[in-house]
Amino acid sequence: MGRIAGKTALVTGAASGIGQRTTERFVEEGARVAMTDWNAEGLAQAAAPLGDAVVTIHHDITDEDSWIAAVDQAVTALGSINILVNSAGTGKATNIEETTLEDWRRVMSINADGTFLGCKHGVLAMKQTGGGSIVNLSSVSGLVGGHNMAAYNASKGAVRLLTKSVALHCARKAYDIRCNSVHPAFILTPMVEAMIERSRDPSSTQGKLEAQIPLRRMGEAQDVADMILYLSSDESRFVTGAEFVIDGGLTAG
Ligand SMILES: NC(=O)c1ccc[n+]([C@@H]2O[C@H](COP(=O)([O-])OP(=O)(O)OC[C@H]3O[C@@H](n4cnc5c(N)ncnc54)[C@H](O)[C@@H]3O)[C@@H](O)[C@H]2O)c1
Repeated sequence: MGRIAGKTALVTGAASGIGQRTTERFVEEGARVAMTDWNAEGLAQAAAPLGDAVVTIHHDITDEDSWIAAVDQAVTALGSINILVNSAGTGKATNIEETTLEDWRRVMSINADGTFLGCKHGVLAMKQTGGGSIVNLSSVSGLVGGHNMAAYNASKGAVRLLTKSVALHCARKAYDIRCNSVHPAFILTPMVEAMIERSRDPSSTQGKLEAQIPLRRMGEAQDVADMILYLSSDESRFVTGAEFVIDGGLTAG
């Protein structure tokens, strides 16, 4: 019997990285999953090995009509949504002087607006079908500042406190919907691989990143997926409005 056997999930950003690995873990543990992403080709490739346990939905998380349609399609295909994982996101490593208003709006619209819309439409759907669990991808950048993370810091800080507001609202209304945030750092996914490739000296950048991490390695998508699995399962039934750091000890000192 899987840890989330019989549950249904909607995972955004499921074509890549943490969203993709989370979907795979969910299927391994007995759930059926609506995988969403705006990258249709990546989504089809990620879904292919998972067979009937998943459906794919083309979805732009910055657009409210797209959210309404995605939730509707997921409920039609799966019968309910018990778990929502807001994993789709984007990065931008620029300081306050370099960040253009266009950069700011793009990062905020994906990371902050997209997660807001997901929580809103997730709660509206889950309260009809007996509750559930929402997991939002913040970052250590939602907890501590970085000199070159102006828009990313702001967007992930927004996700952190949005999560607590959603958790408290759902608790007050007795919806039986929990909402928690996870805060990874340096997880080797296509997002971080692209950042390393764009650096001045990619061959030494990964080594420098690893040297900053007390556990002396980059994280893997699996490290985050396992925490998301716990928060999505009934094992975390008394956990809501909380934040979970997955960073190899980076922010412990
Ligand atoms: N990788 C890390 O080290 C790390 C650290 C902290 C936080 N995070 C967060 O974890 C989440 C997942 O990151 P990842 O590393 O797996 O990245 P990734 O780039 O591998 O995957 C992100 C996915 O989101 C999708 N996406 C982006 N904008 C979208 C939109 N508007 N609509 C629909 N889909 C969209 C992309 O197509 C992609 O498939 C992000 O929110 C990221 O900020 C990652």
